[in-house]
Amino acid sequence: MEKERIYIFDTTLRDGEQAPGYSMNLDEKIRMALQLEALGVDVLEAGFAIASPGDFESVRTIAATMKETTVASLSRALTKDIDAAWEAVKEAKRPRIHTFLATSDLHLEYKLKMSRKEALEQAVAMVRYARNLCGEVEFSAEDATRTDLEFLCQVVEAVIEAGASVVNLPDTVGYAVPEDMTRMVGTVMNKVSNIDKAIIAVHCHNDLGLAVANSLAGLKAGARQIEGTLCGIGERAGNAALEEVAMAIRTRSDELPFAYALQTEQISKSAQILAQITGIKANPSKAIVGANAFAHESGIHQHGMMANSLTYEIMTPESVGVRDTSFVLGKHSGMHAFTKRLVELGYNKEKEEIKALFAEFKNIADRKKSVGDRDLIALVESSTQSSPVVWELDNFVVNSGNLMTSTACVTLRKGDRTYQEVARGTGPVYASLRAVEKIIRHPFSLEDYTLQAVTEHRDALGEVFVKISDGGGIYRGRGVSTDVIEASILSCLAAVNRMLDEASLSRHDGIKPTSAPNFENDMLSSHSDKKKGELNG
Ligand code: KIV
Ligand code: ZN
Repeated sequence: MEKERIYIFDTTLRDGEQAPGYSMNLDEKIRMALQLEALGVDVLEAGFAIASPGDFESVRTIAATMKETTVASLSRALTKDIDAAWEAVKEAKRPRIHTFLATSDLHLEYKLKMSRKEALEQAVAMVRYARNLCGEVEFSAEDATRTDLEFLCQVVEAVIEAGASVVNLPDTVGYAVPEDMTRMVGTVMNKVSNIDKAIIAVHCHNDLGLAVANSLAGLKAGARQIEGTLCGIGERAGNAALEEVAMAIRTRSDELPFAYALQTEQISKSAQILAQITGIKANPSKAIVGANAFAHESGIHQHGMMANSLTYEIMTPESVGVRDTSFVLGKHSGMHAFTKRLVELGYNKEKEEIKALFAEFKNIADRKKSVGDRDLIALVESSTQSSPVVWELDNFVVNSGNLMTSTACVTLRKGDRTYQEVARGTGPVYASLRAVEKIIRHPFSLEDYTLQAVTEHRDALGEVFVKISDGGGIYRGRGVSTDVIEASILSCLAAVNRMLDEASLSRHDGIKPTSAPNFENDMLSSHSDKKKGELNG
């Protein structure tokens, strides 16, 4: 059967980034955007340009960075939004303005205080306005699934007439069931006279856990653009998970005869990068990208798999880029094997970086019998944090027990000097981070702390992810070690270095750094500032 081409519109950096805990800085957004381009999405919604100067800058930079992918900015149906969106995307090889207006009576009456007639006129006027700036305009009828179908058809026809080449029918609140999508998209496809001049898109939210099913129903009814996010991240319960949509189409081409440009072998890496940036790992049983998605634990399943993998496997791990993880390195592995494995894992590092990573790898391999791919990835990712190294860990000692207050003595390096502080806390992590705070003399609060084992084994590396705040912003850091206290200090230092970098940038910009809540409101104690020789001698 002839497969029809469909278009994948990724909104990880807009709808996805709006979700709590998923905000990214500019470097992180660029890194994610580059991977989304490698994944092969057709359109990348880079942000909402008018929302803030930071959003504008990230849309603009991503637009200038993408080589092939269409870059879109969201905008309300207002001239000032559309102007900002255009300014941000105009340098893209393929720019798109994505403008939206709600069309359901509920939104019109209570949110927009507009009549249907006014909304129709506004939508048409703004699509025309955008079309005068940009060759490609997408219009979204927000809350389409709760919009009167006859009115929706009128709006779709009118915005196509005004120049929209893509019309999106979002299930904004995740209310629809697949039958609703079939009816809505089917009716629009049949009733709108100029439908051949535009592509219909669907954009489903997952409040009832139906976003992927609804998107696929939309496709079957005639939509040719699917909007969603990596791992389904997004507002509330999230958006349609693009990797699920893609693998459903690949696996069930008998029911879903569609072709796309997505390279499914890049899915696993894309999900990993998202998790590394945000520090939020997918649920282990999450379809396609969860750690257990391809694991077969039960004896019956394992037996079946050995006899014929089709018994329990509907798609291969390789088809989504999951590698054979049996390859391990150890303390006798040399630089050559180490570098080769990094390249196989998709890391193309400079010589100097590889040297530094190899030293860290040796350090870990000395303490841990075998170093597998997940360890290597955690190591590389914790070392590749986009912040200059100001403070580094020299050494630490903690004293802790169930009948005592924990004490930590931490020594940090800055340039060729070392600085040491002792602090107490209710636990060794808390005491260590307080010692760090005392040394750096920049108060911060700990907003989030997660500790996970990188692998399942007893000698697993501990990976710590922290978020700290000095009142001016939230800074993330990651640390990896066989010792969880060390991993905690390393993650804290990565975040601290980012925080101080930003504070110094604001000072250069003439912006006064915000005064910050103290870590548990403690006054910092006296600052020791000894030369390394003095400390160690
Ligand atoms: O969910 C929604 O309706 C949206 C639109 C702005 C496209 O995200
Ligand atoms: Zn949405």
